[in-house]
Amino acid sequence: MQKVIKRRTFVGIISGLLIPGLLLAGCAGGQIGNKNSKEYRNGMVVSARDQASLVGVEILKKGGNAVDAAVAVQFALAVVYPNAGNIGGGGFMVYRSASGETNTLDFREKGPAMASRDMYLDSSGNSIAEKSLYGGLAAGVPGTVAGMAEAHKKYGKLPWATLVEPAIALAKNGFKISIRQAREMNELHDRFVSLNPLGTPLVKTGTWTPGDMLYQPELSRTLEKIRDQGRKGFYEGSVADSIVAEMKRSGGIITKADLLSYNAVWRKAITGNYRGYKIITMPPPSSGGIALVQLLKSVEPYPLKRWGFNTDSTVQVMVEAERRVYADRATHLGDPDFYRVPVKQLMADAYIKARMSNFSWNKATPSTEIKAGDIVPPEHEETTHYSIVDHDGTAVSITTTLNGSYGSCVMVKGAGFLLNNEMDDFSVKPGSPNMYGLVGGEANAVAAGKRMLSSMTPTIVEKDGKLFMVVGTPGGSTIITSVFQTILNVIDFDKDMQHAVDAKKFHHQWLPDEVGMEPRALDSTTLFKLKAKGYNLVPRGQIGRVDAILKTKWGYYQGGADFRGDDVAIGW
Ligand code: GLY
Repeated sequence: MQKVIKRRTFVGIISGLLIPGLLLAGCAGGQIGNKNSKEYRNGMVVSARDQASLVGVEILKKGGNAVDAAVAVQFALAVVYPNAGNIGGGGFMVYRSASGETNTLDFREKGPAMASRDMYLDSSGNSIAEKSLYGGLAAGVPGTVAGMAEAHKKYGKLPWATLVEPAIALAKNGFKISIRQAREMNELHDRFVSLNPLGTPLVKTGTWTPGDMLYQPELSRTLEKIRDQGRKGFYEGSVADSIVAEMKRSGGIITKADLLSYNAVWRKAITGNYRGYKIITMPPPSSGGIALVQLLKSVEPYPLKRWGFNTDSTVQVMVEAERRVYADRATHLGDPDFYRVPVKQLMADAYIKARMSNFSWNKATPSTEIKAGDIVPPEHEETTHYSIVDHDGTAVSITTTLNGSYGSCVMVKGAGFLLNNEMDDFSVKPGSPNMYGLVGGEANAVAAGKRMLSSMTPTIVEKDGKLFMVVGTPGGSTIITSVFQTILNVIDFDKDMQHAVDAKKFHHQWLPDEVGMEPRALDSTTLFKLKAKGYNLVPRGQIGRVDAILKTKWGYYQGGADFRGDDVAIGW
């Protein structure tokens, strides 16, 4: 085993020694928790939890490839990051082989066969918010296990059982919860109790304390079935029986036929160019890939590097691009199996040039002047992303989600996993304001068998035909702008991976017509200048939780594990 560490910071050494459970990472490879920046030669995993990153890197060391590691990380996250890691949700994978072959896998949830356009409306036609957010009716047909099985069938190298085993051990033997997880599970205590009358390991007598062990014996038995039977262990047999029984208890509509017929789909990647770099990203039913390419092309004619990071001119041109791109997203994007998405037209150079031609440097363009009508539906920000590169240079970028934090909050009794509330990513009432005062488009109306529109933007960037960056993030509608800013931070503003990830972000999504800003994202002069031009600048909390890998020109992997979460990069 070869270990090359170009830079090992004092903080990195100390944290490797001090954090129990990470000792192994500190010795056998190396961890990058938040600001510590190190570079590795043989591969890297960056995910939302140290335990999951460690599982992935151990698979790489055993000779597994990036897809093998991704499968192991996905199942590990379902155990150690139950708020978004999952087997009861779905996601997207972007793949690039060491030789440059690209592919994407869509394992997004689907509307059950009994789903219908008006299922979340009352008799007066008003949307009932709770129904698409909590309880069994909020759940789409899960896609994760089918996705992992499909990815492994096509690209996997190690035996399937080897990849599921680490997650089984974590579920059975327990793991220490983080400060964030203790806080979140305490906050959700009452909801967990009311939605899980038969009990869930996420509820304990008294309150959760950081460092408490979370044991999930039912989940470990479900994972054993998946280990032994592959996708059948989830979509058929006793686990499927438990899901259907849970549907009856919690008012859901997923049937055995829905589970049996679920399919993950290989789709051609969306590609685009930006300043000589090739962007490889996710096609619909994610809006993320098209929007990312539109954003990059929109700002490409402008000298961002000369203007500088988050200066008034840079922010203005980025915000005006975001306003226009999100207006397109609301109207034109949906599941391509149900709706003809005008992919080529939306990304055409002439179209983007025309879209950007009508903004004024003197004042903000009001969003009402861009396009009247349909508006982006809100999305929840609890999703998770992981980036992996293996010894050969094959890269995988996966974003996966239950939608809201802990999804529908319904845990399948007897099977021990949480169901998603992804149905809320449909426009539950096309053409009219929803619970957040927003309206959604016809393209994303609820339908049986349809996949709800997503913003997840797992992305891989190439330079001169070689791997350059693997990037993605959770964050609902801010996913797209977070990936956009992270790419610009590296390409235009020369930041290393960790600084690019940590840099303060802002976000505009056409409607509401406001620029959301993380604390201290813009300095006072920039704020003053933008305000004078009519920009509605609104302070908000954290944006995104990017996990990314950069390949340096010397051939080393640099991790960026977002300081906003518990995220950790481990390389070797
Ligand atoms: N549920 C968040 C997304 O798919 O974009």
